[in-house]
Amino acid sequence: MKVFEKKSDLKNFIKDLKKQHRKIGFVPTMGALHEGHLALVKNSLKDNDYTVVSIFVNPTQFDNPDDLKQYPRTFLEDIQALKTLDPNIIVYSPQAEDIYDGEIRSESFDFEGLEKEMEGKHRPGHFDGVGTIVKKLFLIVQPDKAYFGEKDFQQLQIIKKLVEIENMPIEIIPVKIYREKDGLAMSSRNKRLTPEARAYAPYIYQVLSETQKMWNEKEIEEIKNYVKEKMESHPFLQLEYFEISDEKTLKPANEKKSGNKYRGFIVVYANDIRLIDNIAYN
Ligand code: PAF
Repeated sequence: MKVFEKKSDLKNFIKDLKKQHRKIGFVPTMGALHEGHLALVKNSLKDNDYTVVSIFVNPTQFDNPDDLKQYPRTFLEDIQALKTLDPNIIVYSPQAEDIYDGEIRSESFDFEGLEKEMEGKHRPGHFDGVGTIVKKLFLIVQPDKAYFGEKDFQQLQIIKKLVEIENMPIEIIPVKIYREKDGLAMSSRNKRLTPEARAYAPYIYQVLSETQKMWNEKEIEEIKNYVKEKMESHPFLQLEYFEISDEKTLKPANEKKSGNKYRGFIVVYANDIRLIDNIAYN
């Protein structure tokens, strides 16, 4: 398995693949790989001649230094999991200094308002950090297709906007949320849950699933109140926000308009671990 650390080495390798007209699939990650990541990689292996997986905990997208420090790092296990899947996967695991050319800071983006909703309000600067690193990675890897999970649905929409505004010929492929058997959305952060918090975290998806059943009969306001009450009555989970938004604009919806698609978006703290999830309604 090839593991690249220096962007100049990977760029040279990619140049050769491009000369041979090979199709390149790309899965950007921050490591601590779980089945959800592996599902993205499997999709890429199926569609492309070569798959590049990046493993890089990007400092500029963390608004909370503690979160950055505590973010799980399991590099050797990650490599092993990828090797087991396919020994021809190409791993890119840069040092911050190298990929950022010594200047570790974000570019500022205008994602036409997508960055201002939900996570944008609660994690200032987060999407500038994501946009900065994904743009850098795309320029190095030059993939034909790049794979993103729907768990971070707002990020997925922002990446689609990024390739549009930067004119990058990359197809963004969304991949459905991968869940544990009990419904908890897979996330690298789940590794940090205490056994108690892990036991009650599936409640989040139970509540979301209820809202999906309510969708055809209830008004948006009623559904939002239901989630608020359910979360407030839970002794250990703290709701940060629940929003029902238009899938395209991500703007909060007050009423259902025919032809539009809607999703419920939730962020909940289990102890001090921030868990994010969403569900499609129509
Ligand atoms: O979703 C993630 O893991 C990260 O935001 C990404 C896309 C790898 C950028 O650092």
